[in-house]
Amino acid sequence: MEHSFWHSKWQKNEIGFHEPKGNVLLVKYASFLLCDDSSNSSLKRIFVPLCGKTRDIGWLLSQDCEVVGAELSEVAVVQLFEELGAKPTVTTTSNGKVYAKDGLTVYVGDIFKLTPSDLGDITGVYDRAALVALPSPLREQYAAHLMAITQCAPQLIISFEYDQNEMPGPPFSVNEKTVDSLYAGDYEIKRLERSVLEGGLKGKVDADNLVFALNPI
Ligand SMILES: C[S@@+](CC[C@H](N)C(=O)[O-])C[C@H]1O[C@@H](n2cnc3c(N)ncnc32)[C@H](O)[C@@H]1O
Repeated sequence: MEHSFWHSKWQKNEIGFHEPKGNVLLVKYASFLLCDDSSNSSLKRIFVPLCGKTRDIGWLLSQDCEVVGAELSEVAVVQLFEELGAKPTVTTTSNGKVYAKDGLTVYVGDIFKLTPSDLGDITGVYDRAALVALPSPLREQYAAHLMAITQCAPQLIISFEYDQNEMPGPPFSVNEKTVDSLYAGDYEIKRLERSVLEGGLKGKVDADNLVFALNPI
């Protein structure tokens, strides 16, 4: 999608994708990102690509993680910090603005401009409604870029599957085959859940929630 599409969505507050109470599937499966046998007590630093103003960031912070977000819209980022009750410091870099407060850093701008050194040592990626926000060719670029900037950190992906003929995206349908085609060369992929999306997608189309855990090979 063009950047203007998303800027316009935020300007008009057309943000049906935003979950006011956060995502229950993150809470259910977060242990995949937050615990590991080798270093249970070490600090986790989770990257949330295309983060919007998701409440999931607040939840991750409450689990004593550091969180790094990337979001195109400054409107979203301002609201994110307001809703967290946090007054950020804002710095301007050659790539755009960076909002930060305590364990949270959010890059405002195009995710494709981020580098590995911007993100630091990421221990996990939480992708909810990021992959599904992107049309097919861009999705491939996104997957390759995400792996490059996070050094193939483990990923928890929450996507939707539905009949793409029934509705144009976004969100686009991202099923097991798509996740395999993007990531199977670099990750072991496990589907953790398939469940019916109550009420369908946008109340129009039957859809399933899919949750994937990706472990680097
Ligand atoms: C479907 S929303 C999902 C937001 C969030 N992950 C959530 O679960 O609420 C997709 C978000 O990606 C942002 N976005 C789209 N393209 C982007 C890009 N190239 N770089 C950074 N953010 C982008 C949009 O502004 C939008 O907030």
